[in-house]
Amino acid sequence: MMTRIVLGFALIVFLFVGSYGFAQEHHHGHATSEATKPIAEIMQGMNSSLYDLTSAIVLEDYALITTAARDIVNHPSIAQGDLDSLFSRLGAEKEAFIACDDRVHELAGEIAEAGEQKDMDLVLEKYAAMIGKTVECHRNYKPDMKVGSEE
Ligand code: HEM
Repeated sequence: MMTRIVLGFALIVFLFVGSYGFAQEHHHGHATSEATKPIAEIMQGMNSSLYDLTSAIVLEDYALITTAARDIVNHPSIAQGDLDSLFSRLGAEKEAFIACDDRVHELAGEIAEAGEQKDMDLVLEKYAAMIGKTVECHRNYKPDMKVGSEE
């Protein structure tokens, strides 16, 4: 009887802690994050994570590869004002812009996973693809898009 009570209690604690962890993970995710920043600041942060990632690859530091790639995945959301001006400038290209952004996120997530698996060939493959896609996004959407409010 006592064993059943102890086991039941352990199960409740396990379920509670597990669901809390899940909620936290989702709370900090890209799409649901509540902390927003100006787009230029977000990009500068991503660039800094990209430097970390590049350095980690050169040094074959798998733990840092995963952390830096996750930082790119979990960058803060774009401030509402910047998002509004961005989308109004983009017009019909909005969906293509979002698809490009999603693909870069997906690739950064795949780099993080490859880092966890200590698979350097896969890290390099996904890294090259992510850089290529980022340049594509910038070529298509960056030049005409000064969406900051200070100008
Ligand atoms: C690892 C990925 C990326 C890095 C390292 C990066 C880096 C940068 C940097 C350094 C800037 C210049 C920021 C400044 O003005 O100081 C910038 C601007 C910009 N990037 Fe990215 N970027 C990344 C991904 C993307 C993606 C996926 C998109 C779109 C789908 C994008 C769209 C833009 C746009 C629109 C701007 C101009 C922002 C503005 O109006 O000032 N970037 N990025």
